[in-house]
Amino acid sequence: ARPIWLDCDPGHDDAIAILLAVHCPNVRLLGISTCHGNAPPSCTHANAVRLLHAYHAPVDVHAHRGATKPLIRPVRSDSEIHGEDGLGGVEGLPTLDEPAVKERVNLDGRRSAVEGIAKAIKNSYLNGAKVSIATTGPMTNLALFITLHPELCEAIEEIVFMGGGVGIGNRSAVAEYNILCDPEAAQIVLDCPVKKTMIPLNVTHMCIFNSEIQRRLANGSSAEGNPVTPLRHMLSTLILFFASTYKSTFRFEDGPPLHDPLTIAYLSRPDIFKTTRYRVDVELTGTYTTGETVVDVWNYLDLVEDDNWGVNGKNCLVAQSVDVAAFFDTFL
Ligand code: BDR
Ligand code: CA
Repeated sequence: ARPIWLDCDPGHDDAIAILLAVHCPNVRLLGISTCHGNAPPSCTHANAVRLLHAYHAPVDVHAHRGATKPLIRPVRSDSEIHGEDGLGGVEGLPTLDEPAVKERVNLDGRRSAVEGIAKAIKNSYLNGAKVSIATTGPMTNLALFITLHPELCEAIEEIVFMGGGVGIGNRSAVAEYNILCDPEAAQIVLDCPVKKTMIPLNVTHMCIFNSEIQRRLANGSSAEGNPVTPLRHMLSTLILFFASTYKSTFRFEDGPPLHDPLTIAYLSRPDIFKTTRYRVDVELTGTYTTGETVVDVWNYLDLVEDDNWGVNGKNCLVAQSVDVAAFFDTFL
């Protein structure tokens, strides 16, 4: 299985990305780092610990505490979509009052995201394997890591990020939330000499957690229905809350899109995705367009597919489509 690291801001769909990272075939989770984003940073960190606990992750998989704010811009959070603590409406998760969870929050809270990523990558490289990084929140931790440890870029297999859109946004006409939270960090990542894949809104909006899939999650897919386990109940309440905020905020009637888990699905099952390589940059100064991922679809810049994946050429694969049924089958 390929070693992976997950940087995230849980967050409802991040919670499902963590589930997949812990349990999907073909990937082996080395650790998690958390970031500001969907909720205040102390909440995203505590949520990651609570989720690792609920998913029975191996005890040596830790949640490292990361950036509390973007590189230059003011910090934001998104209670409208994720509730005040980032996991609004979720029933059945262990609380911070549980001693085992409390202890893990305290211990893991002292681990730094950047140093955790560096250590995991170094150890893995010494054992002959490069690490793939999935990121499902603002990319502040990754930008800091790349800036402080440029020598470790060659030990990264690839970076897969959920963020951006090709001509569309969700927090302005053209800006997606993760990129908008820290556009400078996203540009630093896009310029780094590592293979990258972007999972844009255009693809995540294909993966709607509709009522049929909600039913399969709640009851199981066997004809008689599976017993409603605590995990199924927890995930069902998570999806119900996410569905209700997507309905009230974005008028998604059929169900919420499942953005973040697609990064892990991509690392576990790249065969179910179609991608195309482009030059991608982030708009940093636009009056109407700050945070837009500017994708050179027609290769106007006349760039080549070099081995560097950095500042001078086509720097990023952009997912075009996913086999939606295969993705939900994998999840279920
Ligand atoms: C992204 O923003 C957050 O709300 C989600 O967790 C996802 O990472 C979608 O734009
Ligand atoms: Ca997220």
